[in-house]
Amino acid sequence: TEPLWFYKAGADRTGEETTPAHSKVDVAVLVIGAGGAGARTAIELAERGVEDTLVRGKRDRGDAHTTWARGGINGALGTHDPEDSWEIHAADTLNEGHFVNDPEKVETVTKQMPDRLRELDDWGMDFSRTEDGEPDQRFFGAQSFRRTAFAGDYTGEALLNTLVEKAQEYEVPYQENVMITKLLSDGERSHGAVGFDMDTGEFVLFNAGAVVLAAGGHAAVYNRHTSRDDENNGDGAALALDAGAELMDMEFVQFHPTGMAVDEDDPEWEPWSGRLVTEAVRGEGGRLFNSEGERFMERYSPEQMELDARDIVARAIAKEIAEGRGTENGGVYLDISHREREFIQERLPRMYERFSELGVDMAEEAVEVAPTSHYGMGGVRVDKSGETSVDNLFAIGETMAGVHGANRLGGNSLAETVAYGAVTGAAVAERVDGPGTIPEDTYESVAEPHIRGLQATADRDGEYEPEAVLTELRDLMWEHAGILRDESSLRAGLDKLDDVRQKAGQMRVGDAQSQSFEFAIDIGFMLTASEAILRGALERTESRGAHYRTDYTEKHERLQCNICIEQSDLGGMSLSTEPVDEPSEPVRAALDEGHELDYHQLE
Ligand code: FUM
Repeated sequence: TEPLWFYKAGADRTGEETTPAHSKVDVAVLVIGAGGAGARTAIELAERGVEDTLVRGKRDRGDAHTTWARGGINGALGTHDPEDSWEIHAADTLNEGHFVNDPEKVETVTKQMPDRLRELDDWGMDFSRTEDGEPDQRFFGAQSFRRTAFAGDYTGEALLNTLVEKAQEYEVPYQENVMITKLLSDGERSHGAVGFDMDTGEFVLFNAGAVVLAAGGHAAVYNRHTSRDDENNGDGAALALDAGAELMDMEFVQFHPTGMAVDEDDPEWEPWSGRLVTEAVRGEGGRLFNSEGERFMERYSPEQMELDARDIVARAIAKEIAEGRGTENGGVYLDISHREREFIQERLPRMYERFSELGVDMAEEAVEVAPTSHYGMGGVRVDKSGETSVDNLFAIGETMAGVHGANRLGGNSLAETVAYGAVTGAAVAERVDGPGTIPEDTYESVAEPHIRGLQATADRDGEYEPEAVLTELRDLMWEHAGILRDESSLRAGLDKLDDVRQKAGQMRVGDAQSQSFEFAIDIGFMLTASEAILRGALERTESRGAHYRTDYTEKHERLQCNICIEQSDLGGMSLSTEPVDEPSEPVRAALDEGHELDYHQLE
């Protein structure tokens, strides 16, 4: 069944339903998403001899959300701190995730990362380097050692450039500006996908032996977010759930402590509202002050100060603002002006440039920041190789759940993209031996009605503008499922979500080349992701990591579990819990050693 927002197809004059023209593409592997995770998967496939892979992106080649990742990528290289190890990296990741991470996935990432970083170095990534020419590593929040390798503060851009070049060496085909709207699945096995070309408006059917969802996360379902507006709207989660896969841990959404706080009435500043001010500013010594000039983290976290876990710093900032110690633009001050100008320019070049262009000199004055939605720890439930419960459907990167638990270490998202890209690429290469064929009944019962529905969506002339509906949805998520949550607000959020769903069914949409059509599709994905977040947050009657319930402020042992969501047979979502595995012996030993960040090295 199509979700309610999706328009039913009309009939022609003979009463026959007609399916609009569409092209067909046959590939062995369709990779949906062209960021770090998708690109690394494609490289692994190519290295293993799978020639028939298509990487499909919503944007121009090389311009995925990965380019907005800034501060770094984690791996226990031990450049400065030789006592670091993959086990301690895993222990830090589990501590930060409040032990609802999947320990096996955490190990998969942390064990591989030193090799993955060296590989990126070999492939020419533009790492910032020590005097000895080694990839440099900086402090990042809640990590016991300097483990975050970086390229200034444009690490994501440098990473994606490297991966795109490598994929080009292998001549991996890439299709730009195509948006996927549905996966072709019979609930048991994946057969491909349907989408549309955003430039030409043409509908496209992909017949694929395997599908890899590397489509990002869902942090942009909130009105203040670090993503661009047309990315991280929950495409991956919604597509997978609709195809019969499960979601997991959707209630855990990370609010980054330092998004730009701006004068919303100033047209020059307004587009930057909520955009990332990298944690690297604090990792390089940046300090937070309230409007009374107090370095308030001394009260909240005297040992780890500004580099405590993101949820702790974000809630501290939110509290300062709520209690009237915020700035005029609703933030607090982040100040690195005690560092030399040359140091700031070298370590934080993009931040320095951006603020300079807006008339703020970071070497002389503080910038204003406030929490902003940044990352979905939850996502699609997958096994250790990244495969969902639907055969031949894989999900990786921010689309998958399991590595980060209740909260993510900064620098672990880029790590996950390359580590799982390699693992999932290898698993898909084992599995796939060509495009396969879409079974007739899947084509007739899934693909054709969906393509007719896409056309009906484009033809719809209703009462509401998609852009307005989209804004209403983002506002409601910020208000009802934000940094602080409670039962009545979450329930009210679900009620309001129903209203938004009704409005989404009465939108005025343009053709498939128009922005309103793209917004309409986004709204469908966002409704699913938002409902999953609200329902998961209601179910989790405790506070853990990024999920903070003001009516249940403690963590409960019985809730050290994952909350899973699947489509219910009766329609809607059905929730269940799954126990979490124990960490392996070596990781347990690292946990018992009790490592933690020594912030005062930075002072
Ligand atoms: O603040 C940052 O640079 C973000 C990094 C991350 O989320 O991994």
